[in-house]
Amino acid sequence: MIGIIGARFDEVQGLKDIMKKVKVEEKAGMQFYSGDLCGKDAVVVRCGIGKVNASICAQILVDDFHIDYLINTGVAGSLNNDMDICDIVISRKAIQHDFNTGALDDCDPGEIPNIGTKFFDADDRMIEKATRSAQRLNLGVKVIEGIIATGDQFISDKDVKDYLVEEFDADCCEMEGASIAQVAYLNDVPFVILRAISDKADGSARMSFDDFVSKAAEHSMQLVKEMVVSL
Ligand code: ADE
Repeated sequence: MIGIIGARFDEVQGLKDIMKKVKVEEKAGMQFYSGDLCGKDAVVVRCGIGKVNASICAQILVDDFHIDYLINTGVAGSLNNDMDICDIVISRKAIQHDFNTGALDDCDPGEIPNIGTKFFDADDRMIEKATRSAQRLNLGVKVIEGIIATGDQFISDKDVKDYLVEEFDADCCEMEGASIAQVAYLNDVPFVILRAISDKADGSARMSFDDFVSKAAEHSMQLVKEMVVSL
């Protein structure tokens, strides 16, 4: 079973629309659509924005749907000058940029003390399949394997953007991926995060997001469709 999480309506609706033999179950205020996606058993769910929503959702997928793979699809702000609107970042690893216990225990920014790690590594096989799928799809956009920085903030400030690049060397920022990664890690489920760029995470972010969120979300969903076939 493949679990697929997106935060917003337009990040998952295109997948729900093409599912067959769909069964819908509601848990924790989220609707879980299970059925056949491109010939594979899958469950697609909109978790809502932010790390708490995303982690609740991921744990339900593990406990109640017994998923073998976890994919997070959606949009992100670019932190990498080479990455433009609709380009795609496939996670090599993900970090929670707003997690910081340093004043208490000298841990690094992003480090989760009880786990002893700050970066959660995506599954090598899933990364490879995502990259190959992107090559096959040939969307005419740049596709990189990179670092995803997650936090409960929409980033629209150049100084914050610069900090995320300097501290974490991150390629894009969003609001769910690394919390989903932590749940996947703790439950030993392989994961990958796929994000298409909707904005540059600076002063222009709000307008750009409004204009491009749907198109970028569609790119990420196309990659999901191409990739699930190979899992
Ligand atoms: N998702 C898309 N763009 C984002 C941004 N600038 N900050 C956080 N999450 C995002």
